[in-house]
Amino acid sequence: MSDARTPLVDRFGPDAADVELGGDVPSVLKQLAARGSVRKFRPDAVPYPTLQRLCALALCAPTKSDLQQRDIIIVDAPALKSEISAMLADGPLGQAWTADIPSLLIFCGNNRRQRRIDALRERPFVNDHLDAFFNAAVDASIALSGFVIAAEAEGLGVCPISAVRNHAAKLSQLLKLPDHVFPVAGLAVGYPAEAPKVSMRLPLSVTVHRNAYQEEGLDEAIAAYDRRREAAQPYAAQRGVKKFGLAETYGWSEDKARQYAQPERADFGAYVRRIGFKLD
Ligand SMILES: Cc1cc2nc3c(=O)[nH]c(=O)nc-3n(C[C@H](O)[C@H](O)[C@H](O)COP(=O)(O)O)c2cc1C
Repeated sequence: MSDARTPLVDRFGPDAADVELGGDVPSVLKQLAARGSVRKFRPDAVPYPTLQRLCALALCAPTKSDLQQRDIIIVDAPALKSEISAMLADGPLGQAWTADIPSLLIFCGNNRRQRRIDALRERPFVNDHLDAFFNAAVDASIALSGFVIAAEAEGLGVCPISAVRNHAAKLSQLLKLPDHVFPVAGLAVGYPAEAPKVSMRLPLSVTVHRNAYQEEGLDEAIAAYDRRREAAQPYAAQRGVKKFGLAETYGWSEDKARQYAQPERADFGAYVRRIGFKLD
């Protein structure tokens, strides 16, 4: 096995050994193979022109039907950024690491412009159903991904923050988001103060399908992934020990099962309906 393949094998396990990632592939591919989220940053903010360039690159990503239903909000007013960061860090679901992120972006789905265009062109908007929300959310996610790839290629560290949706209504108010514009995820951006770790993933046999979806061997694959991950990247702490107890072995599947045994963002659907979406 060549060194260039190592991050993919580290990440996906032995079934990635066949994946070609030799010396002649573009460096951005090697960078992607070894990437990881960063949650510890040097204190200096990323200059606005750099963020603007990365936003432009992110918005070069594909967009459903060329509708361009996604916007990015660069939050660099110090008081506003502090208020949002503190909100993300506070409370039972708070994430302490967000308290002092150097630069913060909010990726939003935007179905409002389409409705404005329909009014301007005096055409009826007859697609006021789940797709209107879904398409905008997907467009925002694709732009987020484009930003992540570009920023990491530039040597910056990033970490998406879905926790912004724990505070969707308050955040909308702070950012003056009108109806039909909604936060999909935040993104912390900065100069890394730690090397990103290669976070292990389920084997490709589970998540890449050929011609048809299949689940053969899924439970065994999850158990093997749990073992592989616990040996190489054990969780620093178990989730919800008070409620679930201290497990002798604690792998990825136990962590995810515990995570989704607790209510999370149960009010998000009500927020989405309140800002005008019909989700039929
Ligand atoms: C849409 C989205 C939302 C996320 N939200 C959070 C978050 O709120 N807090 C956090 O620490 N990480 C968040 N993450 C980062 C994931 O935890 C991370 O991508 C995952 O653990 C895999 O690690 P890696 O990015 O280092 O490969 C989010 C990632 C995505 C794609």
